[in-house]
Amino acid sequence: MALENTNPSGTAAWQSLRKHFEDMQYVSMQELFEKDPNRASNLHIQWNDFLVDYSKNIVTQETMSHLLDLAKEVNLEDAIQKYFAGDTINQTENRAVLHTALRAPSDSKVLVDGQNVMPEVYSVKNKIKNFTDEVVNGNRKGFTGKQFTDIVNIGIGGSDLGPAMVVEALQFYKNHLTVHFVSNVDGDHVNEVIKKLNPETTLFVIVSKTFTTQETLSNSETIRNWFLQSAKQEDVAKHFVAVSTNIQRVTEFGIHPDNIFPMWDWVGGRFSLWSAVGLSISLAVGFDHFDKLLKGANNMDEHFKTTPFDKNIPVVLALLSVWYNNFFGAESEALIPYTQYLQKLAPYLQQGIMESNGKSIDRDGNPVNYQTGTIIWGEPGTNSQHAFFQLIHQGTKLIPTDFIGYVKSLHGNQDHHDKLMSNFFAQTEALLNGKSAEQVLAEFEKQGISGEKAEFLLPFKIFSGNRPTNTLLINQLTPESLGELIALYEHKIFVQGVIWNIFSYDQWGVELGKQLANSILDEIHTGNIKEHDGSTHFLLKYFLDKK
Ligand code: F6P
Repeated sequence: MALENTNPSGTAAWQSLRKHFEDMQYVSMQELFEKDPNRASNLHIQWNDFLVDYSKNIVTQETMSHLLDLAKEVNLEDAIQKYFAGDTINQTENRAVLHTALRAPSDSKVLVDGQNVMPEVYSVKNKIKNFTDEVVNGNRKGFTGKQFTDIVNIGIGGSDLGPAMVVEALQFYKNHLTVHFVSNVDGDHVNEVIKKLNPETTLFVIVSKTFTTQETLSNSETIRNWFLQSAKQEDVAKHFVAVSTNIQRVTEFGIHPDNIFPMWDWVGGRFSLWSAVGLSISLAVGFDHFDKLLKGANNMDEHFKTTPFDKNIPVVLALLSVWYNNFFGAESEALIPYTQYLQKLAPYLQQGIMESNGKSIDRDGNPVNYQTGTIIWGEPGTNSQHAFFQLIHQGTKLIPTDFIGYVKSLHGNQDHHDKLMSNFFAQTEALLNGKSAEQVLAEFEKQGISGEKAEFLLPFKIFSGNRPTNTLLINQLTPESLGELIALYEHKIFVQGVIWNIFSYDQWGVELGKQLANSILDEIHTGNIKEHDGSTHFLLKYFLDKK
């Protein structure tokens, strides 16, 4: 069954939130903390190895209760049940949305068109395991009998960002294999990667759900041609494997049927790292770690499915984000992991969040009369502090920010970790409290700054504070906790899509550019420029004249 369609702006909760916003928009969080000494203990969630403190938000218990009413009014509970049950909630593509089945225990039953998909899921998982073991142990060899040393993942979007992010995030757990990623159709990308490789010891994993994506097919052909300069056609079977739903196209490309890892149309590209799309993850860290990543995601699935909304991490974070997006008019959210390992988390979630909820037509087919998907961006702390934090602290924009940090480091150098974490805590405190004129003047006094100089400098040194943050403090970066973290954001995306009454699991917005690029490519090849707007025509002509 489809999701229920409710225009959120027509709900009683939305009206209450609007009114409540009038009272809240200038409220000082500092005062809220002063009034309520138990604020942090009331506004946090502790679950497994996660502590989520959301007390540094411009909210009261009343705000939370209106937001929770909104979740009720749009029937989030029913939506969650349909999501996990495999209902056709991706209606514009007539598909279920079941990345959660990929990490469910083997004895669970998930029906798609009346068919339990779990046996198939586990048969592919088994194939991933066996293949990984053979490559890692060196039993599977290249065309000259040498063991593999390098893996190249060829894919783009969801067929690249997820595996690339996780391989980077789990570097600490890595084995001897070096994993590379080729995604961009810009030849520089593939060329630079190829330069480092020995064809005899490199395994190529072509990942494309559709196996029609221009970038992936072009890069695969370039790599196959490069490979064939040193090897024979029959050697391709030993060095190329593919992950796809399009078995026919993969076979036509020349991949041996044994080397095809199937996936299903009910796995969305940007949610696919849990499927065979994660093969390069499994190869990089071993199947057991890959399996723990899946286990972690399943833990979060269970938390999301079974926890009352006021203690449900994805629900609470989604509601807070709706509060800022739809009532405060915040346009973007930042995500700052205090670990270098998560440097690719923001780019990964940019696809997850913006491809999913960057929609302006509601599920009834009408233009929305409220804001939807947030812009997401971020970089690890502390680097980002020295890059764009100035704007978060003293700029004109409200940027709700998630801070993600770990109690224990992996490297064991406590000095480094303490310094890192002192920054982590200091930033959210600074964003909350800012710095008052009195504090600045007291500092001036100590520094011997007075008179005209002090008067001149004062306004620039004041921080207004009152800038909202969520703190996610996790015990340690493990495959399991990473799985939990990723699944948390996946479910946040889902909750927001339900509230905004949009279809989160299609991506028609990326199609137009692809179509136009195909026809422009023909024009570039033939030199025959067809009808375009004045600017595009002018640019194409300039390019063709100069190339
Ligand atoms: O960018 C559009 C998109 O369809 C993504 O959703 C997807 O992850 C990516 O292209 C790659 O698609 P495929 O895996 O089919 O090559």
